Amino acid sequence: MLVFFLFAANGVDAQHHQKINDSTVYGEGLTRQSADMFVNGSFDEYVIWKDERGEVINAHDGGVLFVDGVYYWYGLALRAMGRDTSVNNGAATTTGVNLYSSVNLHQWKYEGVILSTSNDPAHPLFGPMRMERPKIIYNPRTKKYVMWFHYVGYPGTHKQGAGYADAGVAWADKITGPFHFVGYHRPINDSGAVKDCTLFLDTDTIAYFLYDRKMGDGSRCLHVVKLSDDFLQSTDQWAKIDIAFRREAPVLIKKNGMYYLVTSDVSGWKANAAKIFIAKNIFGPWADIGNPCVGEQSETTFHSQPTAAFDVKGLDQSIIMLERHNTENFIKCSYIWLPIQFDKNQQPFLKYETEWRLGNKK
Ligand code: GAL
Repeated sequence: MLVFFLFAANGVDAQHHQKINDSTVYGEGLTRQSADMFVNGSFDEYVIWKDERGEVINAHDGGVLFVDGVYYWYGLALRAMGRDTSVNNGAATTTGVNLYSSVNLHQWKYEGVILSTSNDPAHPLFGPMRMERPKIIYNPRTKKYVMWFHYVGYPGTHKQGAGYADAGVAWADKITGPFHFVGYHRPINDSGAVKDCTLFLDTDTIAYFLYDRKMGDGSRCLHVVKLSDDFLQSTDQWAKIDIAFRREAPVLIKKNGMYYLVTSDVSGWKANAAKIFIAKNIFGPWADIGNPCVGEQSETTFHSQPTAAFDVKGLDQSIIMLERHNTENFIKCSYIWLPIQFDKNQQPFLKYETEWRLGNKK
């Protein structure tokens, strides 16, 4: 049985549509400033990316969605605290999910909080808590935007019990929100903790939730669950991607009818080696095709962990977003954006670029 809680919408706060100026694009710590380059910096550098107000973009482990000619970048609003500051550390949020918009993927305008935490201690979104790895897709049937995430209730510390490792679900009429929280649940047989996760909208408009399912005995494996037509619930159609055991940070890409599932190893905030699984059918069988990263620091995924991927409109170009976790100060985690490249056998690979321009990497 799926347990869903119904809650009234959380108001979007007054920061919505703040006045902006159009000066700063990139911030301090960056010498090669450019308004038309993605700047990742060297492997040990945390490049600051600022919005048009000159404030650090605070949208972690989320994704980018293209709506009506505009790119929307959303992610968890973390706090300027280190991991060990207290139990309520910087990896939890007291804000919610932030949204930014851009027409060129370089200059980002702050659009406000689209799913807000609650100030009511009785509310499941009472912060600090986590809406970890939030992902949003659009449902063309219901015309709603649907968000799923790894729900961790107050105080946002990872645990295995119900309410601390579940699939959180929310929806909105517009990408700019407000998102209405539907509830949280455990998608398969009401059991197994929900850890890292992603959403995938297939070309036939069927949607899937993929997640790291952790069982009571500590075993864990990625699973894929088909969603209901409205994308708000799990269905009983699911598969265990048994070859993808002890993998995190799932990012699913489809190219030429093939599914490519990029994943990280399991080592907390410490960077590790990525691995890709490939399948013709999303329910399997899946095959392991190894580490997609090439060159220096390929064993640490270039000192970062996968977040999401999206297509650039008008170009034959997909971008993978990764995150270089900064456990000294979570809002200064840096965003690593790389082109997804394909070799002559049509296998994807990732090559680090300290900086790169759109249009010359395929
Ligand atoms: C990572 C995971 C993150 C976060 C972190 C906490 O491995 O990918 O999403 O959960 O562990 O330790």
